[in-house]
Amino acid sequence: MKIIKQYFDLFDKKLPIAPASIQINLLNACFQKCIGCNKPNWPNIELSPFKVIEILDWMNLKFGESVVFSGGDPLAYQHLDKIFSHIGGLKAGILTSGLWGKDCPIDTVIEYSSHIKFSIDGASREVYKQARGVDTLDRVKENVKIIKKSAQKLNPNLQLRCDSTISKFNYHEMTEILELCDELGLEAYFFPIHTWKDLQLDLVTLAQIAAEVERAMKSPSYKNVKNNLSNFISMQLRSKPPICIIPYVHFFCDVDGKLFICCRAANDNGKYEDRDMTAVIGNIYEQKIDDIWNSCYAQIVRNNFYEVTAEYCKFCDRYNKVNQDFYDTAHCQTHQIFL
Ligand SMILES: C[S@@+](CC[C@H](N)C(=O)[O-])C[C@H]1O[C@@H](n2cnc3c(N)ncnc32)[C@H](O)[C@@H]1O
Ligand code: SF4
Ligand code: SF4
Repeated sequence: MKIIKQYFDLFDKKLPIAPASIQINLLNACFQKCIGCNKPNWPNIELSPFKVIEILDWMNLKFGESVVFSGGDPLAYQHLDKIFSHIGGLKAGILTSGLWGKDCPIDTVIEYSSHIKFSIDGASREVYKQARGVDTLDRVKENVKIIKKSAQKLNPNLQLRCDSTISKFNYHEMTEILELCDELGLEAYFFPIHTWKDLQLDLVTLAQIAAEVERAMKSPSYKNVKNNLSNFISMQLRSKPPICIIPYVHFFCDVDGKLFICCRAANDNGKYEDRDMTAVIGNIYEQKIDDIWNSCYAQIVRNNFYEVTAEYCKFCDRYNKVNQDFYDTAHCQTHQIFL
């Protein structure tokens, strides 16, 4: 609800404030070569730590709420110490494969993050290897345990979470992924893969998944699921909210400094050349962040996406709940009651 309130504030004052939440992709490099992700083919560049700090300082100054670092793998970024010293009051999240190199200041990351999300797309070595392309599940499990142990001392409130993309490779292991989350002490979230058409869930697969979801819901480990698995199927099929407010309360800063309205527009995981340049509100290498965020140009771009007319918006279900809540509130609608 905070996100909605911020939008109303913005509207009332006729002045955009800082986004509630942003994502910054620090670099394109990572430690894996996942079968459903194109990142390893993106240019091998990284975002200047000075630009990251400029954004973090501005978010702190303008009462932004949270930042998520991703990539590539943010744990491969060489300047984590520098940027974490500017986290201030922001909640920081990390999206990672769960692997890191010997130079990574992992204790700093543990101490100053609010949550760390591990991408674990399989519970067995075989399926994980198929879905991710590398045989590193055992190392990832060990690393989760290392982080959990350090967090007890450095940051007992650190939230640890498993994000699992669901594709044709791994849907039959949903229950086992939940059990693994139980073993490792992770909250569990499932997302359908959205870029690679040949891995996507068609209607026949969805029917099979319905049975898998039922099995998962009966598991004692189901308590770890946070994004309501019973909705998983209907979310793929039902109509979306008719509006999207995300560009008004969020941006996605890509490695080359371009500020996209969201990760979908930046085609994160997809092909580099398919990023939607009409969804860019500016570039932090060319303009001050405050000028970009408050520009008329940015407002025009946001307005263009408000009615979810872009092709990829039609298939985006990432923020359905936020958008539906906002739509219902803004249009004074209550949910219809069918008698
Ligand atoms: C691009 S990765 C970046 C962070 C890190 N490298 C990792 O693997 O977690 C961010 C998230 O996108 C997910 N992902 C990868 N390919 C995807 C796809 N085709 N559709 C949806 N999510 C995908 C990953 O599993 C991960 O949770
Ligand atoms: S999902 Fe993450 S680890 Fe896998 S290829 Fe993409 S960026 Fe790399
Ligand atoms: S609906 Fe469109 S603008 Fe909104 S988050 Fe999804 S892809 Fe981005």
